[in-house]
Amino acid sequence: MAIGTAGYTAMLCVMALERNGVMPDGGEVVVTGAAGGVGSIATMLLAARGYSVAAVTGRMAEADYLTGLGATTIIDRAEFTQVGRPLSKERWAGAIDVAGGVVLANVLASMRYRGVVAACGLVGGMELPTTVAPFILRAVTLIGIDSVMCPKPERLIAWQRLAQELDMARLDAMTTEVQLADVIAMAPRFLEGKVRGRILVPVNPQLG
Ligand SMILES: NC(=O)c1ccc[n+]([C@@H]2O[C@H](COP(=O)([O-])OP(=O)(O)OC[C@H]3O[C@@H](n4cnc5c(N)ncnc54)[C@H](OP(=O)(O)O)[C@@H]3O)[C@@H](O)[C@H]2O)c1
Repeated sequence: MAIGTAGYTAMLCVMALERNGVMPDGGEVVVTGAAGGVGSIATMLLAARGYSVAAVTGRMAEADYLTGLGATTIIDRAEFTQVGRPLSKERWAGAIDVAGGVVLANVLASMRYRGVVAACGLVGGMELPTTVAPFILRAVTLIGIDSVMCPKPERLIAWQRLAQELDMARLDAMTTEVQLADVIAMAPRFLEGKVRGRILVPVNPQLG
C-alpha cells in the first residue's frame, strides 16, 4: 500500500510520456509537487530509467530528499506560481504535473518544441489559465491521466512495471507509518502540502 494510488498514477504518467516519445536522452523532465506522493514516486521512477529530472517543490528544505530520489535539479515552486507569459524559454522535454492551475500553465509555456505533459492532479487549482500558444506554436501535447477508469490491460502493465522498477528500499525510506487513530490529526498536513512521500496506515497491525 505504500505504492498506492499515488505510485500507480506516477507510473501511468511515466508510461504516457514514453508512449508519446519522451525518452531519457531527449532532455529534462520536470515533476511538480515532487516531495508529495505522486511526485516522489514519479521522480524515482524517471531517474531509475535514466531521465534527468527537475523536481519542483514548495519545500526547498527537501532538496536533499529529492536528490536522494534521483532528481538532478531542484526548483523552487515560487518560480511557477506567478501568471507568466503564454510562452517562455523552452526548457522541458517532458513534464509530470500534480498541480494544475497557474503551475501547469507555466509548465506548458516552458515546454520544448513537441514537449509532452502528463497532467494528473489539482493541488494548485482546478482551473487552467493557459493559452493555445504552447499547442499551436510549439506542438506541445497535454495528456490527461486518470487512474480510476484506466483500462485493465494498462493497469496490469503499470503494476507489473512498478514491481520491476521501483526501488523498494527507497520506497520504504519515503514512507511514514501513521496509526489509524492518528489519521484525523494527520489530515490537515496533507491539505497544507506538508506530507513528504507516502503515509501508510496499518489498519490491521496484528496481521502485519
Ligand atoms: N488523476 C488521478 O487518477 C490521480 C491519482 C492520484 C492522485 N491524483 C491527484 O494528484 C495530486 C497529487 O496527489 P499526491 O498523492 O501526490 O498528494 P500529496 O502527497 O499531498 O502531494 C501533493 C504535493 O503537491 C505540492 N503542492 C502542495 N500545494 C501545492 C500548490 N498549491 N501548488 C503546487 N504544488 C503544491 C506539495 O509538494 P511540494 O512541497 O514538493 O511542492 C505536495 O506534497 C492530487 O491533486 C491528487 O488528487 C490524481
